Amino acid sequence: MDFNQVLFNRHSTRSFQEKKVEREKLERILKAGYYAPNAMHENTWQFTLITNENAMISLAQVIQNALEREAYDFYGAPAILLVSDKKTNPHYLANCAVALENIFLQACEEGLSSVWINQLKLICDEPDVRRELTALGLPEDHYVGGIAAIGYEKDTRKRAVKEATVKWVE
Ligand SMILES: Cc1cc2nc3c(=O)[nH]c(=O)nc-3n(C[C@H](O)[C@H](O)[C@H](O)COP(=O)(O)O)c2cc1C
Repeated sequence: MDFNQVLFNRHSTRSFQEKKVEREKLERILKAGYYAPNAMHENTWQFTLITNENAMISLAQVIQNALEREAYDFYGAPAILLVSDKKTNPHYLANCAVALENIFLQACEEGLSSVWINQLKLICDEPDVRRELTALGLPEDHYVGGIAAIGYEKDTRKRAVKEATVKWVE
């Protein structure tokens, strides 16, 4: 896809087909993530890709409990990608955010759709959540800045019109 097509077609999806995502596509998405800029090039971030359904269910369950919600899931996406970095890194969230945008754009390039899922960021150190994250291989000193849910979109919809305040000082 032409770069502008990717940029302007990317949109958040909250309804995914059950169809699994091909491994090569996920590998390219991961690579797009870690090709993002990274403050001071410290490279302390980690990309944790989960395609195992049971692991996703367990993670959703601890998040649901920690947030005291009646239900919680990742919109039925067949893959979720946790982007984490050292919680002591003052740039941790910015690092995760730029990586996530690369991930979303590459997903679009691959004919996939995606959405940022945010809630885990604030509850990583809740004991049950931390236990689950450790079991998934996340370093103890990492916070998850955001999760990318990735898959084939169920209901393709048109891109919402975007507006923003722009000030151009010439
Ligand atoms: C920091 C951040 C957090 C977000 N958290 C969530 C979330 O938890 N759940 C969700 O469904 N979408 C989440 N989104 C997606 C936004 O709702 C979405 O990007 C916005 O509505 C604009 O739509 P678009 O992505 O289709 O352009 C998040 C986006 C950002 C940048």
